Amino acid sequence: MPPKPKSASPAPALQRPAVEELHAEELQRLAAADAALPKPPGWRLTPQSVLSFVLGDAAAGTPAKFVGKRALVERCVVALATNRGLMLIGEPGTAKSWLSELLAAAISGDSTLTIQGSAGTTEDAIKYSWNYALLLAEGPTERALVPAPLHRGMSRGQIVRFEEITRCPLEIQDTLLSVLSDRVLHVPEMKDAGRAVYAAQGFNVIATANTRDRGVNEMSAALKRRFNFETIPAIGDLAEEIALVERETARLLAHAGVGTRLPREVAELLVVTFRELRAAQTSEGRALEPLTTPMSTAEAVSTGFAAGLHANYFGSGPITPEHVALHVAATALKDAPEDLKRVRHYFQHVVKDRRGPHWEAYYRARHTLD
Ligand SMILES: Nc1ncnc2c1ncn2[C@@H]1O[C@H](COP(=O)(O)OP(=O)(O)OP(=O)(O)O)[C@@H](O)[C@H]1O
Ligand SMILES: [Mg+2]
Repeated sequence: MPPKPKSASPAPALQRPAVEELHAEELQRLAAADAALPKPPGWRLTPQSVLSFVLGDAAAGTPAKFVGKRALVERCVVALATNRGLMLIGEPGTAKSWLSELLAAAISGDSTLTIQGSAGTTEDAIKYSWNYALLLAEGPTERALVPAPLHRGMSRGQIVRFEEITRCPLEIQDTLLSVLSDRVLHVPEMKDAGRAVYAAQGFNVIATANTRDRGVNEMSAALKRRFNFETIPAIGDLAEEIALVERETARLLAHAGVGTRLPREVAELLVVTFRELRAAQTSEGRALEPLTTPMSTAEAVSTGFAAGLHANYFGSGPITPEHVALHVAATALKDAPEDLKRVRHYFQHVVKDRRGPHWEAYYRARHTLD
């Protein structure tokens, strides 16, 4: 008897689809509207549409995705149309990677040409490698070549993202030097055609670097000259940060199939805590001892999400200040036990004096920090 065919199981839902998948309809709509308009060569959208995709524009029916100054995003968009790359630097969790994904998706329709920088990143993972079976059988042919993101981005004319570039050894970072100035990638093993890959229009590089882990000082001056630098600051406006944390927490909870809500007042005390600990200063101007953990907006979102899951699985209603206190401690405590002491100090000396039922419940939950 022939074996029974296996029942086709549906593809599992993705934890985090690529930006271009998530916003496919919106990108298509913008591209259709831009079809006849002049664009930088190789771009899918006009610079104006890239901006409305990234920052949101009610008139164009595009929701906000990145929260930041318009002038900063305009400069990023312009930088990518020049013959220099774009380097996004800043504190951890300020949405450098997120902004680079949004820009790549809007400009090239693909945010997945990504090189992850680390101490172990090799030139192969950046440029190309070989399928050894084919290399032995046919020599260095097109078929035997396995293109890495830089090769693919250059031949297709797309944006390549280089994450955490400063984590790579200097000589690996410098792989980009000739590519960014001459816009050609040499494949010396290959004969004739294919020996040099000339970048198609639309190609450029967005690199990100974290100012905490390992500074941009460790980058060669030659490479620095080939990038336009932009510093991504933490969100300046309290109301904007609260709105973002509310929106992102709700999105993550909905994606996890959880109906728990983050009430506005709870979102507010969560964001105020993160902002004050981040700035090492209270809103009244009182100095606090700085934490070693960055307490970024990205971490505030993760804390809201964790508090929401906690409320859903172990509570019986919306997220409360107690859930937040529990997870603030978990976020603050990484590898420095002193940070927990500083959070306790914050509760004892700052939260204690705040009035209102939510702040008072938050203060009562300080025992969760023990
Ligand atoms: N200005 C912002 N606009 C939109 N989302 C933001 C902003 N700041 C922080 N976030 C939140 O942080 C998340 C993005 O963090 P991301 O990983 O891009 O930060 P990063 O700067 O690359 O951090 P790291 O330096 O650790 O790599 C977003 O998904 C969003 O929830
Ligand atoms: Mg990042």
